[in-house]
Amino acid sequence: MIDFKAAIRTIPDYPKPGIQFRDITTLLSDPTAFRASVDALVAPYADGKIRHVVGIEARGFILGGALAHQLTAGFIPIRKRGKLPRETVSVTYELEYGEDEMELHRDAILPGERILLTDDLIATGGTAIGGVKLLRDLGAEIVAACFLVDLPDLGGSKKLREMGVDVRCLCE
Ligand code: PRP
Ligand code: ADE
Repeated sequence: MIDFKAAIRTIPDYPKPGIQFRDITTLLSDPTAFRASVDALVAPYADGKIRHVVGIEARGFILGGALAHQLTAGFIPIRKRGKLPRETVSVTYELEYGEDEMELHRDAILPGERILLTDDLIATGGTAIGGVKLLRDLGAEIVAACFLVDLPDLGGSKKLREMGVDVRCLCE
């Protein structure tokens, strides 16, 4: 049994004083831990019914690509403002340390498509809630949202569940 928590390191006071930054690069660079993370996250969706994995820039791309490959699903990026070339839907969202805007191609998803939303970590939930809003704008069916790490004291996973999203995380 892999200890996912032990594979993630903590950097105090990064990027600002008072933030305990959970650095997943150590998990990603560990062949066994990365493989086990992907296997654990895809396990509930082996029925083949996920059409697309949607990953949030930037760390959600690393995980999302691997999950999509494993599920034989397509991958769709949610990107920071100004990076997608065609017509987009966009949302402004709050972060643990700031505010930003992200976008999704309007033609990326058809109404009713079954989506798995992913990112490396959920903290305040601002980012993931923004992702859910974009996907629901396009009529997607969000099967679940999955993360390597939940920081439950910051309340994001609770808020996402209150929005009716099935949230799965490998560790807290
Ligand atoms: C981090 C992380 C999540 C988000 C979680 O991304 O990868 O996307 O913060 O925080 P929240 O739940 O409070 O919204 P960040 O905005 O630092 O961007 P990056 O992935 O480009 O480093
Ligand atoms: N994103 C938001 N809060 C974070 C934290 N504490 N560590 C890593 N990524 C984050």
